Amino acid sequence: MVLQKLKLGAKFNVLLAAAFLIGLLLSSVALSQVLENRARGEVTSKSLMLIQSMNSVRDYTSTKIQPLLKSRLDTDPTFIAETVPAYAATEVFQRFRENNEYKDFFYKEATLNPTNTRDKADVFETSLVERFQKEPNTKEISGFRDLPGGQVFYIARPLAVKQESCLQCHSTPARAPKSQITTYGADNGFGWKLNDVVATQIIAVPASEVINNAWRSLAIVMAILTGVFLALVLLINTLLKRSVIRPIRRMANAAEAVSMGQMDIEFEQNSQDEIGALAAAFNRMKSSLEISMNLLNKRK
Ligand code: HEC
Repeated sequence: MVLQKLKLGAKFNVLLAAAFLIGLLLSSVALSQVLENRARGEVTSKSLMLIQSMNSVRDYTSTKIQPLLKSRLDTDPTFIAETVPAYAATEVFQRFRENNEYKDFFYKEATLNPTNTRDKADVFETSLVERFQKEPNTKEISGFRDLPGGQVFYIARPLAVKQESCLQCHSTPARAPKSQITTYGADNGFGWKLNDVVATQIIAVPASEVINNAWRSLAIVMAILTGVFLALVLLINTLLKRSVIRPIRRMANAAEAVSMGQMDIEFEQNSQDEIGALAAAFNRMKSSLEISMNLLNKRK
């Protein structure tokens, strides 16, 4: 084996490096998993909180505002959009986004056949709505998405027509308040049916920063691990050289000299460890050898 041909120091370093590389690989896999989960958790909880807030706004508008303004919908010349839950949610979110900190957040009630064309689903959102229509048991789709402004994390939920009251404005132009037709026209936003999934509520929060932070943490931890390893290798090498390799080399030289008949050499014993014991044993062996040699010489 190649390892057997190597000197002690090299052998140690090869094994240490192998152990380190395996350790680094395993810990980076484990750590990146943990960090990714944390990053995902962070953006998920942000998105869920926002989507819940928007639903509260919708609900508030449905139950508190709409009854107040209902009577004016038929009489006023212009439509009072403030009675519409979707309008309220979109407007509230618009104001939320005016904070610089939240300007990259995004909320939309993306609809296949919208009343307000601003809410028209794009290709990606259309595919989500179609999936919700096909899979009634899917209540949420989430994931990362690359947008020109950076990576975002999105959560999409199906939006179904759950109440009969919605159909007043979304079934046929004839049923809708006149002012709605004047403002939005009679061409779109109609023909919805009870329990139809007509839209997806989609919220997107910027994820680039969270993900970059995770990568940065990973890089820092890996750098620290590498530093600790290098320090350890240096320490082990120094110790190995001082307490194993050099004493053994000295002993080998001494043994070499003794074998050539040079008896005035001592095996240096500088420590009480195994190598020290070996030196002591060699010295005793040398003394025995000297005694035997002397006996042999006398007999001649
Ligand atoms: C008084 C009429 C009215 C009622 C009642 C109403 N909507 Fe609307 N809805 C509208 C109008 C008008 C818009 C467009 C608002 C805007 O300009 O943002 C709209 C927008 C929406 C949108 C956004 C997509 C689009 O069409 O522009 C969704 C989704 C929606 N409504 C669902 C519902 C649901 C669900 C209900 C029942 C809880 C409901 N609406 C009740 C009139 C109504």
